[in-house]
Amino acid sequence: MYVLDNLSTILYYTFAVIISAFLLLLTLLYASEQFRKLWFSWFYTIFCTQFIKRGGNAIRAKLFEKLSRFHTEDQSKQLVILEIGPARGNNFEFYPSNCRIIALDYNSYFEKYFLQNKSKFPNIICENFVNGMAEDMRQIQDNSVDVVVATYVLCSVKDRTKTLQEIQRVLKKGGTYYFMEHVGYPHTCVKNIILFAIQLILQPFWYAFFGGCHCHRQSWSHIERAGFQKLHLNYEYPTEMAFIARAHIWGTAITQ
Ligand SMILES: C[S@@+](CC[C@H](N)C(=O)[O-])C[C@H]1O[C@@H](n2cnc3c(N)ncnc32)[C@H](O)[C@@H]1O
Repeated sequence: MYVLDNLSTILYYTFAVIISAFLLLLTLLYASEQFRKLWFSWFYTIFCTQFIKRGGNAIRAKLFEKLSRFHTEDQSKQLVILEIGPARGNNFEFYPSNCRIIALDYNSYFEKYFLQNKSKFPNIICENFVNGMAEDMRQIQDNSVDVVVATYVLCSVKDRTKTLQEIQRVLKKGGTYYFMEHVGYPHTCVKNIILFAIQLILQPFWYAFFGGCHCHRQSWSHIERAGFQKLHLNYEYPTEMAFIARAHIWGTAITQ
C-alpha cells in the first residue's frame, strides 16, 4: 500500500511537471516571435528533418528530377536559383553542380545550420544567406533568377499573394517556380472533410510549435490564381508522413 501511494505521488508530480513545462513552452512560443524562431530553427533541424525526409524526399526527387540533371559546359551560364525559406538546406542534394544559390529566409537562426549542412555539398555555390521576407524580397532584383525554389514555405508566410507576386517579379521571363507544400485536405470526400476539421482543431498548437506554420492552408488556389503561364500541379498523400501534414501539392509554374 505504501509503495503504491509513493508511486502514485511520483506519477502525479511527474505529470504536473510535464503539463506545466508544456504550458510554459506554449506561452513563450505565443508571446515572443524571436523565441518561436529560435525554437523552430532547433526543433526543425534536429527533430523534424528526419521525419520530413521519409515521405518528403520521394516527392523532392520527382519535383527536382529535371533540375538536378541541368548541365552546361559554359560556366558563365550558371543557373541562378533563389531558394526561399531553405532552413537548414534540405534541398541541397537535389541541386545540380553548376548552379549558384541565393538563400533567403526570415529566420536568421537557421543560418548556422544552413552553413553546417552546406559544407557537405562543396559543389554548390551559395554566396550568402539573405535575411529577408518572401513577401518583400527587395534584396533581389527584378528578372534576375532562373529558378525559384520554395518547399514547405507557403504554409508559413504571412501573405501568400504577395509572396507569389514577388516570385514572379524576381524570375526571368520563362523562369520556373518549383514548389512543394503540405496543405489542408481538399474537401473531396467525407474522410478528407473530417481530417480537415482535425487540422483546424490542432492548428493553434501546430502554429506555436512549428514556427508559425498553418497545417490547414489550401494553398493550391493561390498558386492557380497567381497568373503563371504554365502550371503543373500534383496532389500526393505520402503515407510515411503524420496525417496532419500528409496532404501535399507539388509541381512547377512558369512565368510569362
Ligand atoms: C517548414 S520550413 C521549410 C524548410 C525547407 N524549405 C524544407 O523544405 O525543409 C519553412 C521555412 O520558411 C521560412 N519562412 C517562413 N516564413 C517566411 C517568410 N515570410 N519569408 C521568408 N522565409 C520564411 C522559415 O524560416 C523556414 O526556414
